[in-house]
Amino acid sequence: MALKTTFRVALPRAPRTDVLVHFIHSDRSRFSKEMNAARSIGRSGLRSLMVTGDFAGKAGETAILHTGAAGCPRLLLVGLGPYAKVSLERYRRAAAIAAKEARRRKASTAGFVLPALRGSAEDAVVAFAEGAHLGLYRFDKYKKPDDDGMPLEEIFLVSASSALRAPALRALRRAEAIVAGTILARDLANAPGNEVYPESLAQAALEAGRRSGFDVRILGEAELSELGMGGVLAVNRGSDREPRFIIMEYGPTTKRPVVLVGKGVTFDTGGISIKPSAGMAEMKMDMSGAAAVIGTFETVARLRLPVRLVGLVPAVENMPGSSAQRPGDIIRHLNGKTSEVDNTDAEGRLILADALAYAERYKPAAVIDLATLTGAVVVALGHVVTGMMGNDPELMRRLQTAGETTYERVWELPLFDEYERLIKSDVADVKNVGGRWAGAITAGWFLKKHIGNYRWVHLDIAGTAIQEENSDYTTRGGSGVGVRLLTEFLRRWR
Ligand code: BES
Ligand code: MN
Ligand code: ZN
Repeated sequence: MALKTTFRVALPRAPRTDVLVHFIHSDRSRFSKEMNAARSIGRSGLRSLMVTGDFAGKAGETAILHTGAAGCPRLLLVGLGPYAKVSLERYRRAAAIAAKEARRRKASTAGFVLPALRGSAEDAVVAFAEGAHLGLYRFDKYKKPDDDGMPLEEIFLVSASSALRAPALRALRRAEAIVAGTILARDLANAPGNEVYPESLAQAALEAGRRSGFDVRILGEAELSELGMGGVLAVNRGSDREPRFIIMEYGPTTKRPVVLVGKGVTFDTGGISIKPSAGMAEMKMDMSGAAAVIGTFETVARLRLPVRLVGLVPAVENMPGSSAQRPGDIIRHLNGKTSEVDNTDAEGRLILADALAYAERYKPAAVIDLATLTGAVVVALGHVVTGMMGNDPELMRRLQTAGETTYERVWELPLFDEYERLIKSDVADVKNVGGRWAGAITAGWFLKKHIGNYRWVHLDIAGTAIQEENSDYTTRGGSGVGVRLLTEFLRRWR
């Protein structure tokens, strides 16, 4: 992170900075109190903002004021809405708005005056720092830098309360690890298919492991054949590049691990069942599940969380070609089960089947897979919430709680028995597509047929990992979804 985030105990005297941000609630009494506190500088302007009602503290609302004071030339007001409705998500969004506004004004430092915090102060400060850093994220490393002056170098959080110092410092350390993992996941997802392919994705995992402290082992094509990972091999058959199977391990081997599985299709053309060309470019992000798993390892290892984690990423490129698998092919997975490949574009489940079978050897306490698995989940839930399926209500409840805290929310879809027959095959143990209806669920059922004897949750992140529009702290493209969710889940893992 080039940008520093720090904490200072200061105020009510105004610190010297290019932009001083005040976060203002909209409730009458809080509003006047907070506005008056901000008035120690920029007196007249703030008064007229209050009188005219041009700024009321509504969530996301902003106003800028030029103070005429040399040490603190700009005051930025960012609304938080009514105090009773304030949440960590409001803090993230307000901080992102403030950070982007400071950058737009070419500030090199910005001071964020912390409001009266609702709930845990540590969690609130994490939210402010996450929002600011994730809000400033841009995928611009392939663009010529526009050298238009100093970049934003420091955001300091200020408060008059010295009691906030200890929780704030803990929070900034936590946020730094979370942001690093999320940005790694975003960068991997956004990178194009000519840069991120199975071998280079494995390299990125190796580098993350070396940097933050976890073990990485890579299996190549020969080892995959030896093992019998028929799904991984079949999907990659049309590609000139070799597949990889990435194994990450973190934490003491004395504990039963949580196993994270990430779909690593570095580009999905559909294969012989080729996709239409419109929008195909976004299939460079079909490894967002893998990116989330690698990003989570980065964060968890930096935080030294007391958990044991195993990460499994089958990495392939789904291409058409003369050696590509054909519709109608029958393949055999690691667990001995066979699949009829009715559609080569339903490739994610074929590689996940092998990885889910491989997970069994770790005697996992829980297995969570993340995959941009179906267009159907986007039809059902849009880009707002991740589709969740699984065989263990308690595990799903824990993920739901973590989802509410981080706002990487999940929503359960049912794996009712009636859906199972839709993926029956006449010629193999299971067919890789289930027809027109309930596509997210038939994909989930396919995975369910391949899991071992463990507690399991499947997260279909096709909608949430790939965003179509910019939002407060996500940009169009890869969102890095899953890193914050899983980190929060693992923080509370017993
Ligand atoms: N990677 C796609 C799913 C996807 C679609 C992810 C849109 C993100 C955005 C997956 O491999 C796929 O092609 N699924 C097919 C399955 C179908 C052939 C049963 C789909 O959803 O159309
Ligand atoms: Mn596909
Ligand atoms: Zn795919």
